[in-house]
This record gives sequence, C-alpha cells and structure tokens, in this order.
Amino acid sequence: MIHIVIVSILVILSTLGIYYGFLNNETLLPEAASAQAGPIDELFNIHWIIMAFFYSLIMVFILYSVVVFRKRKGDESDGAYFKGNTRLEIVWTIVPLGIVLFLALQGGKALAEVERRASDAFDVNVYASQWSWRFEYPATGAVSSELALPVNRQVLLKMSSSDVIHSFWVPEFRVKQDILPGGEAFVRYLRITPTEEGFYKILCAELCGTYHNEMRADVIVMSEENFETWLESQSGCDLGSAECGQRWASANGCQGCHSVDGTTRVGPTWLGLYNSEVPLEDGSTVFADEDYLFESITNPTAKIHEGFNPDAMPKTFSELLTEEQINDIIEFIKSLEK
Ligand code: CUA
Repeated sequence: MIHIVIVSILVILSTLGIYYGFLNNETLLPEAASAQAGPIDELFNIHWIIMAFFYSLIMVFILYSVVVFRKRKGDESDGAYFKGNTRLEIVWTIVPLGIVLFLALQGGKALAEVERRASDAFDVNVYASQWSWRFEYPATGAVSSELALPVNRQVLLKMSSSDVIHSFWVPEFRVKQDILPGGEAFVRYLRITPTEEGFYKILCAELCGTYHNEMRADVIVMSEENFETWLESQSGCDLGSAECGQRWASANGCQGCHSVDGTTRVGPTWLGLYNSEVPLEDGSTVFADEDYLFESITNPTAKIHEGFNPDAMPKTFSELLTEEQINDIIEFIKSLEK
C-alpha cells in the first residue's frame, strides 16, 4: 500500500514538473497572433499534459522498481511468478480507447472552430510559384508581394500554385495549408483572423525546389484605418510608367532575386542592366535592349546570363503578367540605367 502512495505522489510531481518545466505552450510555441491559434494551442495543451502523465507513469514505475526492489545481498530467491490478469487487461484496453476517443472529439471541435467563417470575412487571392508569393485583393484590384491584413477581421485566403506544391505557413497564426497547382478545381482555402498588430513571416512549408528556403514573404497586420490607406496606396498608377513597373516587379517578388542597387543576388542586378553588354553562358554577348529584356522575362532560358542558374527564374511570367505589365517592368529597368 505504501508503494502505491509513494508512486502516485512521484507520478503527480513528475507530470507537473515536466509540464510546467518545458512542455507548456509558453516555452514551446511562438506568440499566438490569430483567433485560430486559441483552439489549436488548447489542443496542444491537452496533448502535452497526457504525454507528461504517461511518460511519468512509465518512468517512475521502472525507476522505482529498479531502486526499491533491487536484489539484496544474500537473497537468492526468485520473485513470485504469476500469469495473466484479466482485470488489468480490461483496464489497459478501455483507458487508451477512452483517451483516443476524447482526443478525436477535441480535435473535431478545434477543427470546426478553426474553419468557422465570419460574416465580415474578405477575400485575398494567394499565388505561390517557385519561389515567390503574390497577393491579390479582388475588392480593389491591388496586387502586392507582402500580405497586409487588418487586425480582428477574418480573411479568406484563396490559394493556388502555378508550378509545384507549396505550403502557406505563418507560425504565429498556427494554421497551415498546402497550395496545389492545377487551376480552379484545386484552389485551397484558409481562414485567418489576426488578433495582434505586427510583422510576421510567411514560410513555405513544402519542399518545392532549389530556393524553397528563400520562399518567404512579409505579413503586416495593421489597424483597419491603416489597412484602408495601404489598400489605396496599392492601386492606381500611370500605365506605361516606370512607377507602375516598380509596383508589378515588387508584387511579383522580382527584387527577391534581382537587386536594384548593384548587389548580386540569385539573379543579375537590374542597376545598369539596360543598354549594357551582357555576357552569355555560351561565351557570346548580347546587347540588353527592350527585346532582350522582354525575352528574358517571358522565356528566361533563351539566353542565359553567364554565371547564373537558369532554373532560378520562374518560367511562368508570360502567363502571370500581361504584356502591358511586362512593358512597365521594362520601363522600370530602363529607369535604372547607369
Ligand atoms: Cu514553395 Cu517551398
């Protein structure tokens, strides 16, 4: 009897120690910044406690037995032999079954909570491609390479990919969704209600090729007024201008690989590119005029700049961009002439 009391106390102490010592959400998870994070963190908590308890139960039993029932000097007798215990077997079948059913119920509730739609939700179209993000606000036609969101309002992300499978993940929002290629029929949805203003990062969570690790984008959660101002600043520019071109370039993540200040990134810098002599992989050179720029955007492997990986450049811009937008981007590159 005394053994059961001691073991019980040790199991309780160990469970609490493990849980509060390192398994609780505060030490394990980043800040929670969305309404959807609540039910998910609660679910995590339940799992942590159950895990801490069973780990403690097993470890305390083993260690207690090893220490307390160890072989004494001069004692050559064997331990008592017994076989089978129906009552124990029933208990260890029913208890885990109950736990699994309980967790399934909690999981179902959390999923329903996370997917619940709000009546004031607004849409953002998300386009993922190797290796950048693009966000479209259909209400105003704004396009951006960063995801701006108003605080405390639900956004419905409608996500598609132009090439391979990617995955939208912001750790602080907790929710994650794979993004599939294949067009309309494969659009995937994700609901997020940001609850904290601030800056976050989208991380692509699906291995999607050479520059998967660089496939990130900023998320800015701002007040409703700032969001309206931001939306306005994103729409409207004089077509055919370098200013518009800069916007399309930014919205499509061009500057992730092409700097505008002369530094070399994954792709050649745009500073001084126009009207320059470009060395090609085959040893020849080409004069960077408008035709060359247009071809390099729409068909990037036609002429390969010496020293750069031709696979780094997405081959989808002829579909993603209109001819006017491409011409605007060329205007922008021209404005960076040295
Ligand atoms: Cu896209 Cu990894």
